[in-house]
Amino acid sequence: MVDERESCEIPVIGIVLEQIAEAAGYMWMQHWAEANAGNITLNVTSILDSAKLPLAARKVELPRAYPSLAGQLILATVTGSRMRDVSLDPAAGCMLLRIEDGGKAFSVLAAFNASGRPTSELASHLLIHEMLLETGSKLRTVVHTHPPELVALTHAAETQPEGWLNDALWAAHAEVKIFFPGGVGHVPYIMPGSEALAEATVEALRSHPVVVWARHGALALGENALDAFDALDTLNKAADIWLTCRAAGVEPTHLSAPELAELGSYLKKLTGE
Ligand code: 13P
Ligand code: ZN
Repeated sequence: MVDERESCEIPVIGIVLEQIAEAAGYMWMQHWAEANAGNITLNVTSILDSAKLPLAARKVELPRAYPSLAGQLILATVTGSRMRDVSLDPAAGCMLLRIEDGGKAFSVLAAFNASGRPTSELASHLLIHEMLLETGSKLRTVVHTHPPELVALTHAAETQPEGWLNDALWAAHAEVKIFFPGGVGHVPYIMPGSEALAEATVEALRSHPVVVWARHGALALGENALDAFDALDTLNKAADIWLTCRAAGVEPTHLSAPELAELGSYLKKLTGE
């Protein structure tokens, strides 16, 4: 029996909401978050005391099942929320969900606005969280946003051979080769919010920490919201440099094979691998 009481108190440890607020503020300031653009989810199961959770206010059926997420607690931004508002009051812009009924539904445990719905990209977020659990990943955060230079590069990539986008990003900024030696995933344009987008995204994320959604935006994984923001910031900086070169009539140069090899050993030293 679902309890009808509502709760607006999100019992998430402060640091999680602070990191969401900080990342949301950066995304707004970077002009990546027009109107309600962008969304953030975190699997907070391991950091919440299940004995202290509020009672479920309502239950919502999901269009498909996520069996591996059964019982998991997902903190999600509310659909339509502005990142600039989330940065000022993250608790009001988020809701706490528990995945119920073997992964076929979620209950709302806490939400500032009791009738609010989680992000319209929930299909992607839930499928990603399920994949992260199934693969034993330690990453628990998913951030989606609309970085314009990265999106512009996906327009340029439309007429180019596969792999062109990563070549352009590596060419523009050495940091990209250091932090993304395997490049980013490149998902073609697919209807936002759709199951098809979710499936293509998860496929790409199996081998990349970030995916770019053609003509739409990008999505990054992280241990927390700030890690995911940093990944997107590095990539968008590279896209910006590439476009700036082109606008100045300069063809971005590529790193040579020895330069790439040198970066590879630098990376190994950094990560101790
Ligand atoms: P939501 O407001 O539903 O999270 O949607 C924003 C968005 O960027 C959709 O792709
Ligand atoms: Zn979007």
